Amino acid sequence: MAEEVLIIRVREYDEERDREAVKDMERRCEQPARKPSLSTDLMGDPICRIRHSPTYLMLVAEYGEEKDNIVGVIRGCIKTVTRGAEKQKLFPIYTKVAYLLGLRVLPTYRRLGIGTKLVEKLEEWCKQEGAEYAYMATECTNEASINLFTLKCAYVKFRTPTVLVQPVHAHYKPTGPGITIIRLTPQLAESIYRRVFNNSEFFPKDIDVILSNKLSLGTFMALPKRALHKWDPKSGHLPSCFAILSVWNSKEVFKLQVNGVSALTYALCVGSRILDGWMPWLRIPSIPNVFRPFGVYTLYGPHMEGGKGASRLMKSLCAFAHNMASDDPGCGALVAEVGRMDPVREAVPHWRRFSWAEDMWCMKKLSMTSDDEDDEDDERCGVHNWITTRPSSSVIFFDPRDF
Ligand SMILES: CC(C)(COP(=O)(O)OP(=O)(O)OC[C@H]1O[C@@H](n2cnc3c(N)ncnc32)[C@H](O)[C@@H]1OP(=O)(O)O)[C@@H](O)C(=O)NCCC(=O)NCCS
Repeated sequence: MAEEVLIIRVREYDEERDREAVKDMERRCEQPARKPSLSTDLMGDPICRIRHSPTYLMLVAEYGEEKDNIVGVIRGCIKTVTRGAEKQKLFPIYTKVAYLLGLRVLPTYRRLGIGTKLVEKLEEWCKQEGAEYAYMATECTNEASINLFTLKCAYVKFRTPTVLVQPVHAHYKPTGPGITIIRLTPQLAESIYRRVFNNSEFFPKDIDVILSNKLSLGTFMALPKRALHKWDPKSGHLPSCFAILSVWNSKEVFKLQVNGVSALTYALCVGSRILDGWMPWLRIPSIPNVFRPFGVYTLYGPHMEGGKGASRLMKSLCAFAHNMASDDPGCGALVAEVGRMDPVREAVPHWRRFSWAEDMWCMKKLSMTSDDEDDEDDERCGVHNWITTRPSSSVIFFDPRDF
């Protein structure tokens, strides 16, 4: 008997032609929840998660003779980021990276090589655009995704940052005595960020574009009240003790929803919320209504300096961001992603049960020539292969556009 030939065509997503088919396909990818799980609603815009990046592409895979039978999708965006600093730690080393995300294949079409084909086609585009590396992120329990990237596409496990999640309560959180919180202009925020993240990984070169995006709700600095009058932002010096972070409104990009919880859990969560709304002074750590679509605020660029006191300042800033979210109906959580050894990890409040201790980032060096030749070129320029070099800092800057 003749073997069936698989017809898989991968092409660029066409917004007008494919929007409805992709929405339908992604809805069919969501498994019915028998245990608690999180679903994502892209609010009718399949490219919402890459739209704010400087260069992006979405691909669709069609299967069979029939046209427009979309069975798989993948998205990618390219940007220039730091990969640490050179030895004296004065100047950052920039590199062009591609971030691959939103890979999905319809359950009935899996294990046919469609996912692999989508990744390979997207990598071709990334190379054409001059990306040196490509990386992806997934939950460390997602065996299918990790196998696909590492076994089939030669990615290696690279970093495992932590995703910190904090629910938004009905009550306000106190920001603490003796602390002042000020809003920074995007220009001042940019100059501080460029300085403090000089040596970190994944700090985007176009930070100014991020800070002035309408989704960026502001950059805030917390410092001891007594230090405020002593600090002149124009002096170019930083206060001796401070914390800084920015808030990104991911609520306008996508919505999340928790499914598959028991009736008892549901009732307890609703009850906690009602009590918290009635008696905010008790500060009940209530759970917001996450059983219908809710939005999140992403905290990006968290950084603190000045010893023990700085941790208190960071907590105060996070309380401030929490109160902003509490004032925004439908905002259910604050999310931050930080390097596992980054000191801010302990200072940013989060609920362990809702957070991911290890988000798996896998990376690949994209090159037209063999890896060996590339490595030799890199060595000659004094720049080593990022994947095989020890990180020069424990800090990973998380770009809010990538969440
Ligand atoms: C991950 C996903 C995209 C894979 O798509 P796919 O079309 O089935 O992938 P491929 O057929 O190209 O599989 C390539 C390799 O991945 C690995 N793989 C795929 N599914 C797997 C599974 N369920 N368990 C273990 N390994 C798996 C295998 O190594 C496979 O090669 P093999 O079939 O020769 O053994 C698909 O399972 C999916 O849509 N999952 C839900 C969404 C998701 O997790 N996306 C990834 C987010 S980064």
